[in-house]
Amino acid sequence: MGKLQRTKIVEILSSDAFLSQQLNVRGWVRTRRGNKHISFIALNDGSTIKNLQIVVDIATFGDEFLKPITTGACVSITGLLVVSQGQGQTVELQASDIEIYGTADAESYPLQKKGHSLEFLREIAYLRPRTNTFSAVLRIRHAMAFAIHQYFNEKGFFYLHTPIITGSDAEGAGAMFQVTTLDLNDMPKTPDGKVNYENDFFGKPTNLTVSGQLEGELGALALGNIYTFGPTFRAENSNTPRHLAEFWMIEPEAAFYDIYDNMDLAEDFLKSLIRYALDHCADDLDFLNSMWDKELIDRLKFVAENDFVRLSYTEGVDILMNSGEKFEFPVSWGVDLQSEHERYLVEKHFKKPVILTDYPKEIKAFYMKQNEDGKTVRAMDVLFPRIGEIIGGSQREENYDRLLDRIKELNIPMKDLWWYLETRKFGTAPHAGFGLGFERLLLFVTGMGNIRDVIPFPRTPKNAEF
Ligand code: 4AD
Ligand code: MG
Repeated sequence: MGKLQRTKIVEILSSDAFLSQQLNVRGWVRTRRGNKHISFIALNDGSTIKNLQIVVDIATFGDEFLKPITTGACVSITGLLVVSQGQGQTVELQASDIEIYGTADAESYPLQKKGHSLEFLREIAYLRPRTNTFSAVLRIRHAMAFAIHQYFNEKGFFYLHTPIITGSDAEGAGAMFQVTTLDLNDMPKTPDGKVNYENDFFGKPTNLTVSGQLEGELGALALGNIYTFGPTFRAENSNTPRHLAEFWMIEPEAAFYDIYDNMDLAEDFLKSLIRYALDHCADDLDFLNSMWDKELIDRLKFVAENDFVRLSYTEGVDILMNSGEKFEFPVSWGVDLQSEHERYLVEKHFKKPVILTDYPKEIKAFYMKQNEDGKTVRAMDVLFPRIGEIIGGSQREENYDRLLDRIKELNIPMKDLWWYLETRKFGTAPHAGFGLGFERLLLFVTGMGNIRDVIPFPRTPKNAEF
C-alpha cells in the first residue's frame, strides 16, 4: 500500500463517508492544548474556515517529539476518523503518524496570539492569509471571481483580454503610472529639452491602463457582448478606505444596449453575485458576520431581494440640497458627488441601492452619450450602502461628429485616440457598458471596512513592500 493521499478538511467535514477511515491531513496548527496524557490539535488546511480536531496520545509520540508542534507549525497527520467524544466538533482524527514539515518558533511567530488588529495584520500581509478572517476573505474573493466568469459565460459575453500597457490616457480617469525602459538617471533629450521617447521600448510614452473600456468597446463592436476582468492602475494620491493604486475591474460592454439595458444588466449582475456568495460561501460569511459585522448577511439578503432605486443626478442633487444635512462638501447642481452624498442617498434617504443617471457632462468622461439637453450625458453610477460608488458606466457616444466635437472641446490629443474613432466611422452602433470595482464588491460582500483588507497585497501610496 502506497502513502495515503491527502484529504482536504472541507471534504472530511461535509460528508459522513470518511468516518472510520484512515485519513491523511496536512495543514497548519491553529492551537494545541491538552494535558499530560492527551493533546488536541486544531488543524486548518485553508480549504475551509473550520478546523479539524486531532487527538494525540502523548505516550505514543513522546513529549520531545511533540514539543515543536505549536501554533503556526505545518504538519502532516495520518489517523482514524472517529465520532468526537468532546463538544464543539462532530468528528476528530486519532493520530497514528505525524510528520512535521515546518516549525514556527513560539517566541517570534507573529500570529502566535489571536485577536490582532487589522492594521497590524496589514504589516504582515505575507502571513495574514493564515488568519481566519483573511482566509475567509480570500475564499470569498475566489468565489466571486468564479461567479463573475460564470455569469457572463451564461449570458453569452466573451472574456476579452485588454492590454495592461497602453499608449493613451484617453479615459482621463486619474493619474497614470508610466512604463519605461529608459534610464531615469540619464534620459535622452530632444533639442528643445524634452524627453526623447524614440529609444524607449515602445518608441513612445506608455502607461499602465486605468481601464480596459476603450479596447473593450472595439471588442463589443465585433463580438456583440464582451467583458474584461483585469488589473487596473490609478496613481492618484487618495489614501481612503475605498481606493487602491492597483485594483481589479470587471467591464462588460454590449452592442445594441442603451442605458436602460445597461442598468438592468448592472442590477441583475450585482444581485446574482450576492446570491452566489450567500449560496456558496455560507461558512465564511457566517464567520465574518459573527466576528466583524452582525448585519452583514441581512444586508446581503436585502440587496439581493429588493429593487434598486433609479433616479437622475438632478433629482438626486435636489434631494441632497433639501435634506437639511450638513455635508463636508456642499452640494449644488454640477458638483461631482462625494461619497458622503452618495451614502446619504443610499443609507438615509432611500435605504436601498441607487442608480443615478444623467450626470452633468463636465464631470464625466468624453465618451459618454450626450443628451438632447446639451448639459447632461447618459452616465450611470450604482451607489451601495457602506461603499458609495460601486459601478460607473454609461451609454457611449456612437456618433462620429458629436464624439469628435467633444474630444476637441476637451483638448484630448487625437494622436492618442484616432483608433478609437475608427469604430464610429465604420459600422458604428449604439452600445453601453460599465465598470465594477472588484474590491468594492468584496468590501460589500465581506463587510470589511477597508479596501486594503480584501486584496492579498494592497498597493497604496508608499506601500509596495510585499
Ligand atoms: O467609474 P470608473 O472610473 O469607470 C471607468 O473606469 C469606466 N471606464 C468603466 C466603464 O464604463 N467600463 O471606475 C469604475 C469602478 C468604480 O465604480 C469603482 O468601483 C472602481 O472602478 N474604482 C476603484 N476601485 C478601487 N480603487 C480605485 N482607485 C478605484 N477607482 C475606481
Ligand atoms: Mg466613476
